[in-house]
Amino acid sequence: MDEHEIIDSLKRIRSQDMLYGDGRILSSVSTKPLDVAVEAYNVFSDVNALDVHVFKSIEGIEYDVVSWFGGLLNNKLIAGYVSSGGTESNIYALWAAKKLYPKRKKILVPESAHYSFLKAADLLDLEIKWIPLDRGFKADIPSIKECIDQDTLAVVATAGTSALGVVDPIEAINNLCKETFFHVDAAFGGFVLPFLDGGPKFDFSLENIDSITVDPHKMGFVPMPSGAVFLRDESYLHKLGISPTYLPFKTYTLSGSRSGGAIAATWAAIKYLGVGGYKRIVAECMKNTRILCSELGRLGVEILAEPELNFVGIRPNDLEEIWSSLKAKGWNILMDKKTRSIRIVVMPHVSGEVIRSFISDLEDVI
Ligand SMILES: Cc1ncc(COP(=O)(O)O)c(C=O)c1O
Repeated sequence: MDEHEIIDSLKRIRSQDMLYGDGRILSSVSTKPLDVAVEAYNVFSDVNALDVHVFKSIEGIEYDVVSWFGGLLNNKLIAGYVSSGGTESNIYALWAAKKLYPKRKKILVPESAHYSFLKAADLLDLEIKWIPLDRGFKADIPSIKECIDQDTLAVVATAGTSALGVVDPIEAINNLCKETFFHVDAAFGGFVLPFLDGGPKFDFSLENIDSITVDPHKMGFVPMPSGAVFLRDESYLHKLGISPTYLPFKTYTLSGSRSGGAIAATWAAIKYLGVGGYKRIVAECMKNTRILCSELGRLGVEILAEPELNFVGIRPNDLEEIWSSLKAKGWNILMDKKTRSIRIVVMPHVSGEVIRSFISDLEDVI
C-alpha cells in the first residue's frame, strides 16, 4: 500500500465512528483536542521523554507543566509527571503510598471510585475495604472514621466520580488522614473545580493530601494519552527511583518510555487557554448543565445527585426502555449498572443546541 492508500483506508475505517462535533456523544469524558495541542503533539511525536540524554528539550517542558499545576493545585513544592492517563496515575499514587508505609495493606476505597483501584490493589497486593456512600452518593464519613486505623495504607477520594460526577467530601476526609496516605482522584474534576467560583476544596491546600490525579486528556483538551499525577513534594520520589544499569540517570515514573508528544500537547493547551480560557469553557459547560437540569426537572426526570460538575446522572421511569429508545435515536449514552442511571457528561462539545435536541428526543420517548 502506498501512503495515500493507507491514509484513505484508515479514514474509511474511522468514518464508522461518531465525531464529537456530531453533537450526539453524551457519554464521553473526553472531547476534541485543541488543534494547537495536536500540532504540538506532532512536533514531539518522535520524542521519548524517558530518554532525556537524547531529548533534553522535553525535561524543561515537563517541568513547566508540573509547575503550572503547582499553581493550580496550590503547591509550590509539587512533584509529578505526565502519565498515560488516570489509571496509571492512580496505580502510581498507591505505589508511592506503599513505599512510604511498606507494612500496611489496607486501602479505604469508596464504592463510587474508578475501577483502576481494583487493578492497583491487585498489582500492589493491597486489600480494599469498600466505603459505602451516603445519600448524596458521596463517601460516607462515619464509615471512614470507623475503618481507618494504624494498618490503613491509604484513603482514596474522588473529585468527579465516573458514574455520577460526584465530589467526595474531601475536606472532611482530609481531617481523618493525619497518619495515612491520602490520594485524590481528580482525573475528571481536576480540570473543572479550579475554574469554578467557590467549588469544593480538593487540592494540596488541604494538608494531608499526598497525591492527586488529573487528566489533561479529559477536560484539558489534550489528545490521549495525557494523564498527570502529582505528589506533595519530591521526598516521595526517593523510594520510587530506579537506576537502570544502561541509563545515566534514575527514573521515577511507572511507565518506561513516555510520549514526548503528550507532554508538549499538555504544555500547548495550558499555554493557549490559560486559567482564563479554561474558566470560560467550564462556565459554559456549567451553564449548559444547569439548562439540562432545569429541562429534566420540567419533564419530571429524576436527577440522582445535584451536579457540582458538568456531569448529570439521570434515572427516568422505565429506565431501560428509555435508554434503548434514545440509543435508537442516535444518542451515544451510557448506563451505570450500580446506580441504575444514565450518565450525561456535558463536555464542551455538548452545546446548548445539543441539549435542546436531546431534551426534545427525551420528551418524545417519555
Ligand atoms: C475518576 C476517574 N479516574 C480514573 C479514570 C481512568 O482514566 P483513564 O481512562 O485515562 O485511565 C477515569 C476514567 O474515566 C475516571 O473517570
